[in-house]
Amino acid sequence: MPSRPQIAPSHERPTEIACDALVVGATAGAGGAELTGGAAAEIDAALDGWLSEHLRDLSFKAKAGDVAIVPTVGRLPAKSLAIVGLGDAGEAGPAEVRKATGAAGRRLVDSSTVALAAHDLVDHPKAARAALEGLLLGSYKFTAFKSDPRPSKIQSVLVLGASEADLEAGRTAAEATLLARDLINEPAGSLTPDALARRAVEVADVAGLSCTIWDEDELASRGFGGLLAVAQGSTQPPRFVQLHYAPEKATAKVVLVGKGITYDSGGLSLKDAKSMETMKTDMSGAAAVIAAMGAIGQLRPDVEVLGLVPASENMPGGGALKPGDVVEHYGGKTVEVLNTDAEGRLVLADALAFASEQEPDAIVDVATLTGAIMVALGTKATGLFCNDDDMARRLIEAGADEGERVWRMPLFSDYLSELDSDVADLKNVGPRWGGAIIAAVFLQQFVRDGIAWAHLDIAGAARSESGNGEISKGGTGTAARTLISWVEGFGR
Ligand code: BES
Ligand code: MN
Ligand code: ZN
Repeated sequence: MPSRPQIAPSHERPTEIACDALVVGATAGAGGAELTGGAAAEIDAALDGWLSEHLRDLSFKAKAGDVAIVPTVGRLPAKSLAIVGLGDAGEAGPAEVRKATGAAGRRLVDSSTVALAAHDLVDHPKAARAALEGLLLGSYKFTAFKSDPRPSKIQSVLVLGASEADLEAGRTAAEATLLARDLINEPAGSLTPDALARRAVEVADVAGLSCTIWDEDELASRGFGGLLAVAQGSTQPPRFVQLHYAPEKATAKVVLVGKGITYDSGGLSLKDAKSMETMKTDMSGAAAVIAAMGAIGQLRPDVEVLGLVPASENMPGGGALKPGDVVEHYGGKTVEVLNTDAEGRLVLADALAFASEQEPDAIVDVATLTGAIMVALGTKATGLFCNDDDMARRLIEAGADEGERVWRMPLFSDYLSELDSDVADLKNVGPRWGGAIIAAVFLQQFVRDGIAWAHLDIAGAARSESGNGEISKGGTGTAARTLISWVEGFGR
C-alpha cells in the first residue's frame, strides 16, 4: 500500500508558506476568472497583479474543476501555484471545493509538499475537509498490479486555516473511499469471496470492530439458500461477513448490507464478453459497506452498526444454478430463478431477511444491482429506493454533503405482480421495463414490515470511465462517504 501523506493544519499566509505547490481557488465571473478575496487575491496583490495578468493570458475561466499550474519562479516561497476553478461565486460549496482540489490532485502527483487554500472563499463548516478529501481522492492511483508502480509522491499536505478535527474527519472519509476503490479495482482473480472476507477482518482489526465470517457449511446449516445457490456454479466458496460496531451507549441500531459479487459472469444466463469486462466491480456495494464500517469504528458515533456482506462469485460451472430452479431463501421465501444474471437480488434477499431479524431501526443496502438504473439516471447518480420519506431525505442530504449524488426512485407496489411465479413465491426477474424498480420491489419482499429501509442502486456511479475532479477512473468508491455521513447523523 502506498504510504499515507502527513496531514497538518497551517496558519501561515499563502504568500509565505513554503511548499512545492499551493492550491488556491478562483471563481468564474462574466469576464473570466476572478481573484476577489481569499488566497488568490492576497497573492495577486503581493505580486502587483502579476497572477491575474498571467491567468488572463492563459484565458483561464475558473469553471468548476479547471486547473492552471503556474510556476512562481522565485516570486513566492511556494514553488508553483495550482489555481483551481470553483465556478460561480454564489454557488461554490464543499462539493465544488472537493472537485477543484481533486482535479488539482491529479496534476500534482509528482509534488512532495502540497498546501491547500482552495476552501477560503467558501464559507461552510465542511469546506476545509472537502479540500483535503478532494486532494487525497484526486491523486489516487491503483498501482498494486504494475511492475513499475508510480504511486502519488505527495508526502505532506498542509491545509491553511483548518482545525485538526476538520482534517481528521476529512482524512477518515477520504481513506474510506480510497479503501473501497482499492477493493473494487483489485481483479476478481485475486479478490475472491474468501479474500474479500479476510480484508474485512483486517479492516475490523484496525478499526476495533468485531468480525464474524460464515463459510459455506455454516451458511448451509443456517439456510442461506440464495447465497449458496449463486455460489454453486463457482469453484470459490461463498462467505457471509458480519462487521459489528457496538458502542456502550447506543441510541439506535442500523444495518448496512453490501452486494459482494466478486465476479459476475451472469452464470448460465451468461453475459457477453464486453459486459463482463468490468464485472470485478460487482462488489462495489460490499466495498462501500466495509470501508464505511472501518470509518465508523474510528469515528465512534452513538449508533450501533452491523455491516453485512454476502460474498460470492456468479459463475456458470457444472454445478451452476439453472434457469427454472427454485431457491429457498433465509427466512423461508421461495424464488424461481429465471435469469441467473439477476443474482444480486438473490444474495441480498438472504442478507435482508437476516438483517430484519436483528431488530434494527433502519437498514440500508448498497448494490450494483441493475443496468436499468444506468439507463434511468446515467453514471453519475445513485438510485435511491426507500419506504420512509424522512430516511430518504437524510440519505439524499448525506450524499449531497459528500459530493455523491443520490436520486430518489419510486417503489411502485403494484409492480410486484410482475414477479408472480407459477411454481414459487416469486420469480427473480420481470419484464425489462422499469427493471431497477422491479429489482427494488423484489428486495423489499425480504425486509420485515415496519423497518425503515433504503436500497441504493450504484450500478452507474460505482465506476467511472474517466478521472474527473475527485473521481478516479475505475472504481469510484461511491456510497462509502454517504453511509458514514448518514450513520453519523442518525438519530440526531
Ligand atoms: N451486476 C449486474 C448489474 C450491472 C450491470 C452492474 C452493469 C454494473 C453495470 C447485475 O447482476 C445484473 O446482471 N443485472 C441484470 C438484471 C437482469 C437480468 C434482470 C441487468 O441489469 O441486466
Ligand atoms: Mn448479474
Ligand atoms: Zn451482478
